[in-house]
Amino acid sequence: MDANTQAQFRDHLATISSLWSDKLNQHQFDSALIAAGANTFYYDDDQSPPFHANPHFLRWTVAENSEHCLLLLNGNAQPKLLWYCPADYWYLPSSAPDWLLDHFDCESYSTRSDLEQACLQHLTELSRVAYFGITPARYIDLANVELPSTVLQNQLAYARGYKTPFEVTQIAKATAIAVQGHLAAYDCFEAGGSEFEIHLAYQQRTKHVHHDLPYPNIVALNEHSSTLHYQHYDRDPPAKRLSFLIDAGAKKRCYHSDITRSYSANPNDAFADLVSSVDEAQRSLVAQLPDLTDFVEFHERTHLAMAEVLVAQRIVTCSANAAFERQLTDIFYPHGTGHLLGLQTHDIGGHIVGPDGTEGKPPTRFPSLRLVRRIEADLVFTVEPGIYFIPVLLDRVRGHKDINWSLVEQFVPFGGVRIEDNVLVESNGIRNFTRAAFSAA
Ligand code: GLY
Ligand code: MN
Ligand code: MN
Repeated sequence: MDANTQAQFRDHLATISSLWSDKLNQHQFDSALIAAGANTFYYDDDQSPPFHANPHFLRWTVAENSEHCLLLLNGNAQPKLLWYCPADYWYLPSSAPDWLLDHFDCESYSTRSDLEQACLQHLTELSRVAYFGITPARYIDLANVELPSTVLQNQLAYARGYKTPFEVTQIAKATAIAVQGHLAAYDCFEAGGSEFEIHLAYQQRTKHVHHDLPYPNIVALNEHSSTLHYQHYDRDPPAKRLSFLIDAGAKKRCYHSDITRSYSANPNDAFADLVSSVDEAQRSLVAQLPDLTDFVEFHERTHLAMAEVLVAQRIVTCSANAAFERQLTDIFYPHGTGHLLGLQTHDIGGHIVGPDGTEGKPPTRFPSLRLVRRIEADLVFTVEPGIYFIPVLLDRVRGHKDINWSLVEQFVPFGGVRIEDNVLVESNGIRNFTRAAFSAA
């Protein structure tokens, strides 16, 4: 870490330290044990999926290679980091990262039993400990260790929505890295690359191997872009290139970005016009964010904006208001407008609506909306409207009088459009990391 990052990290730790103290005190805990976690094996196999550490552990340490490590927040003392560093020759072990050494009382163990014994010993000195980690775990058999209540977990998830300046910096950097990948991907698309080749071009430019990616790249040519989380990588390009959708992010110090861009192969066709309209609507929606207080209202406004695009493009023949009221927008725009972004691509906490941990729910009409909170300073979330031609959804309204079916059939082979940016709410406006990174590139 350079000096600026170190300074921001120090302030970040001070912020989350006071947050955790408040919450633990409120629930009568004097301390907390946070386990980074342990990987699993595939059934009847000695292979594992990529390891994802407990996000609470990550927020304190930003140390991804931390399997089996433990963090003990022990009242007012310096937190103890119990680091697992086996004497291994199958995999390269990692030592405790140097950026943590000034902030934690670090102990290193080369066997899991030594690490566990040390932790059990430390726990005997504490009175009431909340355990955050996977279960079963030996620690929760102790009389003074308990699992946190749902309310406490919700309160922490809610608080994690508000990003510290350190976190904002990392997300901005993760966005800039992803934008470089998007540019390389676009060049590869233009050169006639297959989905597989585009994916590799993205990975090469971002220097992300598969397990570095925050989520598997969505690289969709033609009708594949109507599958929202399309997961394959065709090895050959299609016979005719019509359209390209790429939804791909990056990570910086464990923080994610999540960006989508859509393109037409022919800048003069109707699909190119549709892409421009969605792009323009997305910019306008982001510009409206400072006037709004509630994300559900923003989602409804986004539906109306998509209805206006559908009307302008002559895809629906009624008014925009009627298309929204008759729920036709749900067919063309079936996902949420955004979600919190941070240590997880879909950062949890989007359904927690108050600092007391109160849970909210998306409206019945929009069950997949992942964010139902008030729009407040320091939240980072995505804004990702789209219009898709999804055969299984179109089948539900096949023959509807307000839909221009011959035009829809022309658009089906193009799949769909999504434009997704990562934004920060600031006290005096919105900072759009994605547009800024594209402009600077
Ligand atoms: N990349 C997944 C999403 O946009 O939510
Ligand atoms: Mn997203
Ligand atoms: Mn995405």
